[in-house]
Amino acid sequence: MSILVTGGAGYIGSHTVVELLAAGYDVIIVDDFSNSSPEVLKRLATITGKEIPFYQGSILDKTFLDKVFKENKIEAVIHFAAFKAVGESVEKPLVYYHNNITGTITLLEVMTGNDVKNIVFSSSATVYGMTNVSPLTEDLPTSATNPYGYTKVMMEQILNDVAHANPDWSVTNLRYFNPIGAHESGMIGEAPNGIPNNLMPYITQVAVGKLKELNVFGDDYDTHDGTGVRDYIHVVDLAKGHVKAVKNNLANKGARVYNLGTGHGYSVLDLVKAFEKANGVTIPYVIKPRRAGDIATCYADPSKAKRELGWEAQKTLTDMVRDSWKWQSQNPNGYQL
Ligand SMILES: NC(=O)c1ccc[n+]([C@@H]2O[C@H](COP(=O)([O-])OP(=O)(O)OC[C@H]3O[C@@H](n4cnc5c(N)ncnc54)[C@H](O)[C@@H]3O)[C@@H](O)[C@H]2O)c1
Repeated sequence: MSILVTGGAGYIGSHTVVELLAAGYDVIIVDDFSNSSPEVLKRLATITGKEIPFYQGSILDKTFLDKVFKENKIEAVIHFAAFKAVGESVEKPLVYYHNNITGTITLLEVMTGNDVKNIVFSSSATVYGMTNVSPLTEDLPTSATNPYGYTKVMMEQILNDVAHANPDWSVTNLRYFNPIGAHESGMIGEAPNGIPNNLMPYITQVAVGKLKELNVFGDDYDTHDGTGVRDYIHVVDLAKGHVKAVKNNLANKGARVYNLGTGHGYSVLDLVKAFEKANGVTIPYVIKPRRAGDIATCYADPSKAKRELGWEAQKTLTDMVRDSWKWQSQNPNGYQL
């Protein structure tokens, strides 16, 4: 029996594949490479010593997806495949709603048709909207401020409704905080197309000389140094959370939701300073006005995942900034050789 990983060539998916194989699960990857590279598969084979079964195609393609299920014995799905750029989602809402929501519905229909009723879903702390009451607990109301966020709110709802209507389904929604870092080998990591949307790849691209300086949006928030505070989590810790969630899903029916964060908030400037100290490089930055839609502070209460999944983040901020830099410095152009 295998775990199907949609979007398994992507940043979080690829790290999760490594941890699933290390935990003894068989894995099948589906990805259309819309935001990733075939090179990832070669690197995964080197890291794990295994050729991982791979199908190139879109989760929007029902015939393709059905073939994947028919040709394999799949017992659970971890569903990463989605578009994730907030700004782009504002410009192209239909593209985001179609890929993320129609894609998820298509996947659920094919799962139903093949009697696979077990799914772990990539949600996000973005579903807490503008709530400024950290630490955030899973029982807070959900909302969103952009189409990407709405796709996550809606997909959680769809999955909960499916589990509610069919008591033999197992659904776990995982709300990620801010994944950074990379595999300790430096062979896989985050490789955004164009100008990065997220802080850490921006910092590493400044460090490697691809970008001139870091823009820090706002230094007048109500935080210890005025810059925004977020809950950064090492991508390998996050990946391990998926292994625990799959194991729990295979043992328990019903729907549940967990925050995956460290429970610690670090500011933009904390991250910059930790990066400079651990890696011996300087990150020039300029202060810019606040960005619309940003809040001062956002960090998780991760105690439910600890209590129910036995999962807790292990890696430090120093591990995160060191591994991010190892990946970027070894791969200045990401997966483009
Ligand atoms: N990275 C973050 O900061 C973050 C935070 C919270 C939630 N998430 C969610 O986690 C998931 C994974 O994020 P990531 O950072 O690894 O992103 P990513 O873009 O690196 O990975 C997503 C993968 O899915 C693939 N994909 C997209 N649409 C597809 C489709 N229709 N069919 C098949 N493959 C498709 C892409 O090619 C890519 O390899 C996403 O759902 C994202 O919304 C990410």
